[in-house]
This record gives sequence, structure tokens and C-alpha cells, in this order.
Amino acid sequence: MLLVINCGNPYDVGEVGKLLNFEKIGIHNFSKAPEPCRFCLYWQTKGELQNAASKRDVEKEKLKWLNIVEKTFGNCIEIVSLNGTTIGFMQYALAKYFPRVEDYFSGPPSEDAAFIACLYIVDKDQRRRGYGTVMLEKLLKELSGRGFKAVETFARMSSENNPSGPLTFYLKHGFEIVRQIDDFPLVRIKL
Ligand SMILES: CC(C)(COP(=O)(O)OP(=O)(O)OC[C@H]1O[C@@H](n2cnc3c(N)ncnc32)[C@H](O)[C@@H]1OP(=O)(O)O)[C@@H](O)C(=O)NCCC(=O)NCCS
Repeated sequence: MLLVINCGNPYDVGEVGKLLNFEKIGIHNFSKAPEPCRFCLYWQTKGELQNAASKRDVEKEKLKWLNIVEKTFGNCIEIVSLNGTTIGFMQYALAKYFPRVEDYFSGPPSEDAAFIACLYIVDKDQRRRGYGTVMLEKLLKELSGRGFKAVETFARMSSENNPSGPLTFYLKHGFEIVRQIDDFPLVRIKL
């Protein structure tokens, strides 16, 4: 059984998992997405709209994107709550749905893999308690069930300040580095 050590107290990931609720997010319930993610087009654009547009315009663009991805890829966003409060956000699809990937020197992601754009625990106080591990494991299981043979993301070597988190987190969960040109290596796990 996998044990996670947090502040010196070992606890069981299975027990941690029972604390979390997962909800798939689509057009119909998009307003439930946490604030920074609801109004973020980082992956959907290459920055052209993000700076100029109002929050309302950004959300409209994100909903347009979501509409296309839902129809062609299926569910691509999930939120995670703890005791009724949303603490986590996951966004994933084939990399072709995220134009921003072209800016990453360690790319391109592989066409056969699902791409994790965001794996994010919004509240910093809730990090390093094993929740991210539960989120990643749930996502990998789900993507495997949808027929994917591999999952990739751009992790960050020097910091956790990265849409899907730090490299250490992914190496710990069995991902391997595919290509590393700068601080954001492309990592991959076979399912
Ligand atoms: C990536 C993230 C989801 C991981 O979730 P988490 O709940 O903190 O991760 P876990 O507690 O399950 O960590 C499991 C292991 O991964 C590694 N790890 C996780 N976060 C790490 C960090 N910041 N630095 C180094 N290793 C880390 C550790 O090995 C950790 O085990 P340990 O705590 O026993 O040492 C979370 O850290 C996060 O949201 N980071 C911010 C990402 C961000 O800024 N996104 C921007 C969105 S636009």
C-alpha cells in the first residue's frame, strides 16, 4: 500500500482519496470552475486575447473552445472539492486542442498521448497533503479507460509554479522525460 509522508505523519492515499469529490465540468456547469481557471485562456490561445479582453469575453472564448472539445474529444475538465470547497482543477485533451504547446521548446507532445494542460490545487495550504497524487491517479485511470495508451505533460524542473506542477511530482509517479531543452521537459507515462 502506498504511503505519503506529510509533516511527519504517514497517511494512506486511499483514505485521502475518500475525502475528495470529483465533478466533470462542461458547458452546463462551467461556472463551478475555480476563478483563475474560469477566466484563463493560457492553453487555448498564444496570449493574443488574454491581455486585452474583459473577463466576460475570456469566459465566452473558453466556452466556445469547450464546446468544440466536448463534441470532438469528450470531457476535458474536472474539478475536485474537499468538504464542499473546490480545491482542484484538471484540464486535459489531445495536445492539438492547446495551441500554447507550440511555445514549449521540449515539445511537441506525441499525437498518441492525452496531454495534461493543468493539474492544479488552487489553495496553496492544501498542497503536499497527497491530494495531487489522488487527482493524478484518478485522471490516469480515467484516460486509460478512454483508451489512451500514454499521457504527457510539460513539467517544470525549477519550481512548482507551472500549470501542471513540478517535475519531481511526475517522476515520483512513474513519468519519464521524453525531451528536455529547457526548464519545462516533456514527460510521459505509458498506461
Ligand atoms: C502539482 C500539484 C497539483 C501537486 O499536488 P500536491 O497535492 O501538492 O502533491 P502531493 O502532496 O500528492 O505530492 C506527492 C509528491 O510529489 C512531489 N511534489 C509535489 N509537490 C512538489 C513540490 N512543490 N516540489 C517538489 N516536489 C513536489 C513530492 O515528492 C511529493 O511527495 P512528498 O510530499 O511526500 O515529498 C500541486 O503542487 C499544485 O497545484 N501546484 C501548483 C501548480 C501551479 O502553480 N499551477 C498553476 C496553474 S495555472
